[in-house]
Amino acid sequence: MVEKLFLRGAGWNLLNANDETPACVLQRRGLTRTKLWDAMVDAGVRAEILLRKLNDPNIEFLDSDGLESEPESEPEAEDDVEIEVEEVKVDDSQEPELENTAQPNSNLIEEDPSSMPEVYLKTKLEYKDGALVTDRGDGVMMDWENGLMAAGCDSLFKGSNPSKTVLNIGFGMGIIDTMIQERSPANHYICEAHPDVLAKLKQDGWYSKPGVHILEGRWQDTLPELLSKNVFFDGIYYDTYSEHYEDMLELFDLVVGLLTEDGVFSFFNGLGADRLVVYEVYRKLVEIDLANYGLELTYTEINAPTGTLEEKDETDETVWNGIKRAYWRCPVYYHPEARFK
Ligand SMILES: C[S@@+](CC[C@H](N)C(=O)[O-])C[C@H]1O[C@@H](n2cnc3c(N)ncnc32)[C@H](O)[C@@H]1O
Repeated sequence: MVEKLFLRGAGWNLLNANDETPACVLQRRGLTRTKLWDAMVDAGVRAEILLRKLNDPNIEFLDSDGLESEPESEPEAEDDVEIEVEEVKVDDSQEPELENTAQPNSNLIEEDPSSMPEVYLKTKLEYKDGALVTDRGDGVMMDWENGLMAAGCDSLFKGSNPSKTVLNIGFGMGIIDTMIQERSPANHYICEAHPDVLAKLKQDGWYSKPGVHILEGRWQDTLPELLSKNVFFDGIYYDTYSEHYEDMLELFDLVVGLLTEDGVFSFFNGLGADRLVVYEVYRKLVEIDLANYGLELTYTEINAPTGTLEEKDETDETVWNGIKRAYWRCPVYYHPEARFK
């Protein structure tokens, strides 16, 4: 029945009154890892790929001249009922927002630094309590991600070249960069765009660390220059803030030009991670997209810190106290590693 419904256009991301998609209902009933669950994830992947094609300005639509014409619409059956449904908004931004108790007003939503890079880069930042936050309380980076950064750092050092040249895009709290420095790579490039983070890099002496090269500015502006300078990387890690999956697709163009033959590309995989089914849809989408670039993606499963699954309360068990949106809701982190096939 589920297959038939999808074939007839049922939406994988429709929401019921409890803010649940059909897959969320399966999850609540303990029915993940079933054929039904897989059917929902596959429907999500198909829909996302189709939508992207439809929005592609280069797509050509054949007009129906010469094709057998079909009736414009099916006659409505008498008992057809119009149902109003909402769709889940796929959150493909990579990072969280911290709690802001004030009610959002429309001006703030329009100028939201967590999803608008140009606004984010002009927003004041503050380092505090194991987090990097904006002056509005959006979280840019949190230290519960330490274990995930350690996995990212390991990936950068897996290529065969003994003298490593690695690139990290997005300094944030410098967690992964500190780990990279401990491995003493020959060259350690750090690309960072935010003026307050660049000031922190200066203050903490990163500009004079051995082998460190700071690329000041957005990766979109600084990385293309490297293509003409014959700089290649044994490892590239990507973890920015406020950017979207479309930006990652642009980045893949540069990654294929900058990665050595057996280099490794990895990134903070927070795509859609506030809802398990969306996280799984992205898991497959990224794999398909990277395959188009000749890159094979593998995932290692890492248990997410249990504090990320706890609801906000008065105890210290949850990481979300004082945080506006629990942006991580998945028991397992899919740590990505991509290599040329
Ligand atoms: C989530 S933090 C990175 C955290 C880092 N992985 C760590 O271990 O601490 C994201 C960083 O990316 C930077 N950023 C955002 N957009 C960028 C862009 N287009 N180019 C370069 N850096 C960017 C932000 O200013 C921020 O410092």
